[in-house]
Amino acid sequence: MARQPDQELGQVLVVIPTYNERDNIGKIVKRLHTALPDVHVLVVDDGSPDGTGQLADEMAAADDRVHVMHRTEKAGLGAAYVAGFQWALERDYGVICEMDADGSHAPEQLHRLLDALPQADLVLGSRWVPGGEVVNWPAQRKFLSLGGSLYSRLALGANIRDMTGGYRAFRADTLRKLNLASVASAGYCFQIDLLWRTIELGFRVREVPITFLEREFGESKMSGNIVREALIRVTKWGLRRRGNQVKALFTGKK
Ligand code: GDD
Ligand code: MN
Repeated sequence: MARQPDQELGQVLVVIPTYNERDNIGKIVKRLHTALPDVHVLVVDDGSPDGTGQLADEMAAADDRVHVMHRTEKAGLGAAYVAGFQWALERDYGVICEMDADGSHAPEQLHRLLDALPQADLVLGSRWVPGGEVVNWPAQRKFLSLGGSLYSRLALGANIRDMTGGYRAFRADTLRKLNLASVASAGYCFQIDLLWRTIELGFRVREVPITFLEREFGESKMSGNIVREALIRVTKWGLRRRGNQVKALFTGKK
């Protein structure tokens, strides 16, 4: 397997979940390979009615670096990532990344994440650290994202600015420890879920600035249900954390 020239960490795989991204998937993979020719890609498609899966198959047939996983029904971003990560961990990948198909995550910035990984176990592409930004978002979406990160940060006591972002680079060894089979968060809460697991295990998490550009084509799958799921789960994790702290006060154990 080809190695990244400047990477001690092993072969890089970028997992891209897709649902109706026919207009985007070809462009994003092309940009990625222009920026970083050695990375591999796994497209995880949930049976998109618009034919994204077939298009990805054609791309894979023409390029050894491209792989496709077909799933039968739309089961959420989180479930798609878990399946993709499991596929990757069964193979010889040293670094496993998350990236959206719609161009919100610039492939040209992936090197920022990879460059920080030697000093970290998980690197987050962050919109809310100095140098990071969001382009083209309506005020309410910005508010929701900042609010979501702030709430999660307070509830979980985590010193991270962007808790919900979806541009990430994991060491394979980090992912292996997260007990992926028990991840039940379907929507964006998945991002907080994985981050929280990583922090709780004491792994080193670093944020690097990225520019998040709202998609040009197709629609975001963000919904009220997705927000509700996140709110409920984060509150539960936060309460459990406080509960453990109180228990520790009485028992003297951590
Ligand atoms: N396979 C699969 N199944 N893919 C999905 C599904 C699904 O059910 N839902 C969404 N996707 C894919 C989309 O096709 C896209 O490639 C990616 O997941 C992100 O989906 P969007 O619908 O574009 O998400 P977004 O732009 O609203 O949200 C982004 O920002 C959030 C934080 O603000 C994502 O990066 C989220 O992960 C992130 O939490
Ligand atoms: Mn998007």
